[in-house]
Amino acid sequence: MRTILSTLVVLLAVTALIYADSNQWGRRVVGDRLLQSATIVNNSLPVPIKTAVFQYLPPQGSARAPNVTYILARDNVRNGLGGFAALISGGINQTHATVKLSSRPNLGFNFTIEVYGR
Ligand SMILES: *[C@@H]1O[C@H](CO)[C@@H](O)[C@H](O)[C@H]1NC(C)=O
Ligand SMILES: *[C@@H]1O[C@H](CO)[C@@H](O)[C@H](O)[C@H]1NC(C)=O
Ligand SMILES: *[C@@H]1O[C@H](CO)[C@@H](O)[C@H](O)[C@H]1NC(C)=O
Ligand SMILES: *[C@@H]1O[C@H](CO)[C@@H](O)[C@H](O)[C@H]1NC(C)=O
Repeated sequence: MRTILSTLVVLLAVTALIYADSNQWGRRVVGDRLLQSATIVNNSLPVPIKTAVFQYLPPQGSARAPNVTYILARDNVRNGLGGFAALISGGINQTHATVKLSSRPNLGFNFTIEVYGR
């Protein structure tokens, strides 16, 4: 019984991993800080696949733009019916990053994106 239970727990954990649509790149490092964050929602009807592009650009006129260390795209839709987040340009160890968000067919999405760097 105990074996069955723990197997079930593992299966549920794996399922949660597959269905959690949050995505992340890189890792937090000592001395990094939040460079930019935004919550992006697209529930526009009647477009079947909603999209949005999030862009982090280095601050204008800074001599040494920070390098990106960690990017988190947190899916705020917790029922497994959230969207998808893909890094399409820049990213870790670069001074800019562009993340493209998209929805499942006929659903919306709600992501919070955080970009850290130093
Ligand atoms: C929502 O997604 C549609 C389809 O990609 C796009 O045309 C529209 O501009 C998006 N709206 C917002 C608020 O991002
Ligand atoms: C960013 O990384 C480049 C290449 O590794 C390095 O030359 C530069 O000094 C770094 N910038 C900062 C602000 O640490
Ligand atoms: C998006 O998710 C955030 C965090 O859960 C929530 O505070 C916000 O109200 C949501 N926005 C919409 C339009 O659902
Ligand atoms: C970013 O730079 C660090 C330190 O230089 C290195 O360890 C890491 O592999 C690099 N990561 C990527 C994705 O380039």
